[in-house]
Amino acid sequence: MSESAYLNSIIEKAKQYYKTIVLPEGEDERVLKAAHIITEKKAAKIIILGNEAEIKSYFEKNSWSLEGIEIIHPETSPKLQEYTDLLYEMRKEKGMTREAAAQTVLNYNYFGTLMIKNGDADGMVSGANHSTADTVRPALQIIKSARKDRGVSSFLIMVSNGVPYLFSDCAVVINPNEKELADIALTSADTALKFGIDPKVAMLSFSTYGSGKGEQVDKVKKATELAKEALAADEYKNSGIELDGELQVDAALNEVVAKKKAPESHVAGKARVLIFPDLNAGNIGYKLLQRLGGCEAYGPMLQGLKAPVNDLSRGCFAEDIVGVIAITALQAAK
Ligand SMILES: CC(C)(COP(=O)(O)OP(=O)(O)OC[C@H]1O[C@@H](n2cnc3c(N)ncnc32)[C@H](O)[C@@H]1OP(=O)(O)O)[C@@H](O)C(=O)NCCC(=O)NCCS
Repeated sequence: MSESAYLNSIIEKAKQYYKTIVLPEGEDERVLKAAHIITEKKAAKIIILGNEAEIKSYFEKNSWSLEGIEIIHPETSPKLQEYTDLLYEMRKEKGMTREAAAQTVLNYNYFGTLMIKNGDADGMVSGANHSTADTVRPALQIIKSARKDRGVSSFLIMVSNGVPYLFSDCAVVINPNEKELADIALTSADTALKFGIDPKVAMLSFSTYGSGKGEQVDKVKKATELAKEALAADEYKNSGIELDGELQVDAALNEVVAKKKAPESHVAGKARVLIFPDLNAGNIGYKLLQRLGGCEAYGPMLQGLKAPVNDLSRGCFAEDIVGVIAITALQAAK
């Protein structure tokens, strides 16, 4: 992820809110560098979890200021018991014992997630040294979906020739059913609004308006119907969201193709939010554009949680972490 004009615009917006973001991987030099860069830019208040003496000495060695950064050592934190109790209360019905809660809270991803739950941080960025599942699971268990009727999914912001697009879901829901796919589209439209992306949503398929047949096409058609029904409700009045499907990706993006394949669609040819039918399509699609198409890719980031938690790729650079922190800070702004 390079620092582009689009990323700079996100950093500028994040500054206005100055949210508190916790970074649980204080042992990682890339994370410490990102904490330093974000703090210099005053884009968020940073809390680093880890060994205070080691982190301080790393900052001193690099002549970086620690002003605006808080370091918390979970093992000796005065809030350890409070977080343990919170975790136990939340998970006892799922079979968690007090002993297991006391053990689990020392996992820094759980500690960071509990800080958010307790109102001590607004968001978390982790995953430079953890798998997606290890970063995401505490958030699903503790922060939970923002809406009872919708699950959590992920999105990417893909920038092509300076134009931002939102792609979903490329990282979480492996094979969404019709309702889940409709929900992914609705949550993505909300996210697009938050990030200043035109909320013209295309429900992608290998078929445009019935040109192809089969179960996979029917799923996208039904999801389109469900999403359109939801968009007719009061909560979406004047939202500006337009959604259509099923559309092939060329019909969604190219005005000439759109005129031939879906001339009456308000979305075809102008789509900025692309909803993939499953994780195979989404994950392969975004990586093709990133590796062969020269697009900048920001994410995947989670959407639909009560508070933002985002996962990093283990091969990430400090600059990538800066981008994800800025995006997380903006997600945290209500
Ligand atoms: C995200 C993921 C890790 C969750 O898997 P998991 O930990 O096995 O999840 P579980 O089914 O055990 O559920 C754990 C909790 O999360 C909740 N959950 C799972 N998926 C959810 C979703 N999409 N939205 C909201 N909650 C969800 C479950 O309800 C459960 O809550 P509970 O314990 O309070 O009942 C899994 O969906 C996954 O592996 N996705 C693909 C990740 C991947 O490989 N991506 C490609 C690379 S980026």
